[in-house]
Amino acid sequence: MKTVLYPGSFDPFTNGHLDLVMRASLLFDQVIVAVAVNSGKNPLFSLEERREQIEEACKQVSNVKVVAIKGLLVDSLDLYKADAVLRGLRAFSDFEYELQMALMNRSLKPTCETIFMMPTVNNCFVSSSQIKEIAKLGGDYSAYVPANVREAIERKLRGDGK
Ligand code: PNS
Repeated sequence: MKTVLYPGSFDPFTNGHLDLVMRASLLFDQVIVAVAVNSGKNPLFSLEERREQIEEACKQVSNVKVVAIKGLLVDSLDLYKADAVLRGLRAFSDFEYELQMALMNRSLKPTCETIFMMPTVNNCFVSSSQIKEIAKLGGDYSAYVPANVREAIERKLRGDGK
């Protein structure tokens, strides 16, 4: 049984993230999407809100589990018995950040391997920060996020709780 852990802030989860989950679900027996804390970011949604949104967005993919993690990513690998970490690469500009993170994780835990996958070209330019900016400025971003995520963003920006 091969399990891959797909960590990220996912604030919010986009169609690019969903695309990667679906591709990974064909290669691995189990995909665990791990909503994690990026201390450099100030998220719109709580970890639990994001976990619920991703669970709903991925419900058609049977071998996907969604968890929220608070500590170091490498510690979650043992906890969830994951064989590798999965990260998405959209463009060359992602590479330096991803390389640093992959090598640091391997330095913290020598058995930690990171696998990179690319989303479809149509999703390569989609980023969570752009989605939040477009949403706050009243633009149409419905093509870039799952429907339940768009509803959650609209509710959050109206101040309607979850
Ligand atoms: O989607 P992001 O914000 O690029 O994801 C980054 C994330 C959340 C995967 C990274 O910040 C992370 O692994 N956070 C958990 C804490 C940790 O292990 N930090 C050390 C990373 S080298």
